[in-house]
Amino acid sequence: MPCDDWRQAGAAELAPWYAAERDRWTRVLGWDPVLVLAMAEEARQAGRLAGFVARDDAGRITGVAYYNHERGALQIGALQAERADVVRDLLDRILESPEASFARRYQGFLFPPIGGVDVALTRRRFDVMPQLYLGCRLDGLAPPAGTPVQVRPWRDEDVPAAARLLARAYAGTATGAAFAPEGRLDEWVAYLGAVLHSPACGAFEPSQTVVIDGPRPERLGGLVLTTRLSPSTVHLAQVAVDPDQHRRGLASAMIGRVARLSSGGATRDVTLLVADDNAPARRLYERLGFEQRSVFLLASRGRITRQSASPRVAEGTAVAAR
Ligand SMILES: CC(C)(COP(=O)(O)OP(=O)(O)OC[C@H]1O[C@@H](n2cnc3c(N)ncnc32)[C@H](O)[C@@H]1OP(=O)(O)O)[C@@H](O)C(=O)NCCC(=O)NCCS
Repeated sequence: MPCDDWRQAGAAELAPWYAAERDRWTRVLGWDPVLVLAMAEEARQAGRLAGFVARDDAGRITGVAYYNHERGALQIGALQAERADVVRDLLDRILESPEASFARRYQGFLFPPIGGVDVALTRRRFDVMPQLYLGCRLDGLAPPAGTPVQVRPWRDEDVPAAARLLARAYAGTATGAAFAPEGRLDEWVAYLGAVLHSPACGAFEPSQTVVIDGPRPERLGGLVLTTRLSPSTVHLAQVAVDPDQHRRGLASAMIGRVARLSSGGATRDVTLLVADDNAPARRLYERLGFEQRSVFLLASRGRITRQSASPRVAEGTAVAAR
């Protein structure tokens, strides 16, 4: 299966792929990725975003993968194909790329259209963690019970305290490593910058983002970061509570407040992503009325060495010097 540099492909050739991708996300997830796809296409055309397209014998595009390399991490932005063997070819091309030889880490947050992507990744030594995409009708969210807590709106100056809260809430967890690989505060600040300013996780909704103050001014007790995925869907991009204040109803109260702030307009659904193995969070969302709608894959692995390369690479295919 030939895989070519996607930067050589014509915009018209890729247009059906973008349209199908937008349709799939919108239909299955209620998430309109139009801005993210437009940014990818702009970066591709400018030569800034590396990737590959796979074609059938007639030259039609049957798969797309793209990735970027930043601060030692190779981030796979898309890995899509109609067949599993094409996914494998695309993945091998990424792992054989010159950028891969410089990367210390590889990561992808993927929403594959077909099965078998997890197997392809696992065989190439990625750890694959399913991330459940949950949703709830706004009018079906169970109201929080228990003592009322003081929830207040987000302010721009909350960023440093929010980064400290996230570092504490996610310390030592695999999910945390996906956002901040070494759990450092600067990584959490960078993560927050991405949620607040890039459309990757939806458009930040400051008016529907809430926090709970902590015992000291520089600390937050809890945080729910909200983004908009489409006119009818808001997304809880982050829910975190200080470990010292767990099980006091803080997360439930904040989600309840977001629901109230979102009501009265076009919003119909609330969605979020939760790691399959995050039992406390899954229990919380189940209690509030969320149900599973789909699954993403969070894939990560460390540096590629000759011994740990992909099956094809390990079999001796010519690879870029690493
Ligand atoms: C998940 C998290 C946000 C919950 O916050 P919280 O304020 O403790 O949650 P609440 O007090 O509102 O819990 C409401 C209900 O959720 C369930 N729940 C919450 N934490 C639980 C736990 N550790 N074990 C079992 N059930 C739990 C319970 O049913 C609980 O009700 P109960 O205490 O009356 O039994 C918090 O544990 C956290 O910050 N975790 C780390 C970050 C994270 O994983 N965020 C979610 C990402 S999707």
